[in-house]
Amino acid sequence: MAGLIVGWLAASPAVRAGDASAGADVFKSECAECHAVKEGRNKKGPSLFGIVGRQSGSIADYNYSDALKQAQWTWTQDKLHWYLSQPAKTANPGTKMKYDGLTDAKQLDDLLSYLSSVH
Ligand code: HEC
Repeated sequence: MAGLIVGWLAASPAVRAGDASAGADVFKSECAECHAVKEGRNKKGPSLFGIVGRQSGSIADYNYSDALKQAQWTWTQDKLHWYLSQPAKTANPGTKMKYDGLTDAKQLDDLLSYLSSVH
């Protein structure tokens, strides 16, 4: 059964069917050192409250790098998937986010489900 589901997901790259509670654990281990999901709570990185659907570089009281200020992206799930699956400095040369990327596809889908639930 698990094989069937994995096969179906692999055949449907546009469908992000992650598990948000597993994604909360991924967030804790991969992102929480630098990010909080609480509104207004910036750490080394900006708050990721409501990140899915919002404009990049749009937290008013966070001091972004010029690279991210100039990116002018909308953080859709697909954009986040692209951004987080590679080193941040490859996706956005000059960024101050020091992160090498999350290569485990399941963890990434779980994480995106979790981030979508944080509003
Ligand atoms: C070592 C610290 C660090 C880690 C780990 C890290 N980030 Fe970041 N992140 C940052 C910093 C710093 C920025 C601001 C980048 C800039 O201004 O160039 C940032 C920016 C971002 C942005 C853009 C936010 C906006 O307002 O446009 C997103 C999205 C993001 N990070 C998601 C994540 C996720 C999800 C993870 C975990 C998979 C993660 N980051 C891991 C430090 C980190």
